[in-house]
Amino acid sequence: MKIKVNGNEVEVTGQHVLIEELRERGVQIPSLCYASEAEHQASCMVCMVKDVRNGQMIPSCSTFPQEGMEIETECEEVVELRRMAIELLLSDHGARCGGCEGRDKCRLRELSVQMKAKWTRFGPMAPEERLRVGELRSGIRKEQIHVTGQMYFEPAKCIRCGLCVYNAQNGFTFMYRGYDMQVVIPEENKKNVDEKLADLCPTGALFVRGLRRDE
Ligand code: SF4
Ligand code: FES
Repeated sequence: MKIKVNGNEVEVTGQHVLIEELRERGVQIPSLCYASEAEHQASCMVCMVKDVRNGQMIPSCSTFPQEGMEIETECEEVVELRRMAIELLLSDHGARCGGCEGRDKCRLRELSVQMKAKWTRFGPMAPEERLRVGELRSGIRKEQIHVTGQMYFEPAKCIRCGLCVYNAQNGFTFMYRGYDMQVVIPEENKKNVDEKLADLCPTGALFVRGLRRDE
């Protein structure tokens, strides 16, 4: 099947989502909540591309190519939308990168720098809102929660992408809904989690103590 990408005709199989097909052909598209061969639900909106035929912005991690599609991956509109998505995530991310044990593997930090995103654009939250959410979360937002082996979970850094929830049975889970939604690890589920799960986490929320990214 043929589609157009940034004005160039590209042959794709149609068997994989756009992000996968395009990455295989050297077109770089950022992502946070998507990982190859892992279960995921589109949530971060960092992988957005534009379908020039109808002007729609679409998440490339959950859209399959269609014959005749005309995709833009680098126009200013797309770049600005991705930057906004990152800035929204940063507004509720405990971004204290200095001293963060997961910073070497944090794709959110990497993309923020690359895309010149600012955590101040949408946040931090208003003090009264911070208090309300803080009360709700008290008891589950402990600083660092030991999960298994050398693996720790730091809830304040979680962007609720769900990768750790969808890719380990009876491990991490969601609590509450909507804006208040949190990812938690029930004590009795810790035994079902493998340290390797930390590799999927796009932030420093899940990290293996003492392990650097290039190890
Ligand atoms: S801990 Fe990491 S992988 Fe799990 S939901 Fe949060 S950011 Fe995503
Ligand atoms: S990578 Fe596509 S929505 Fe997150």
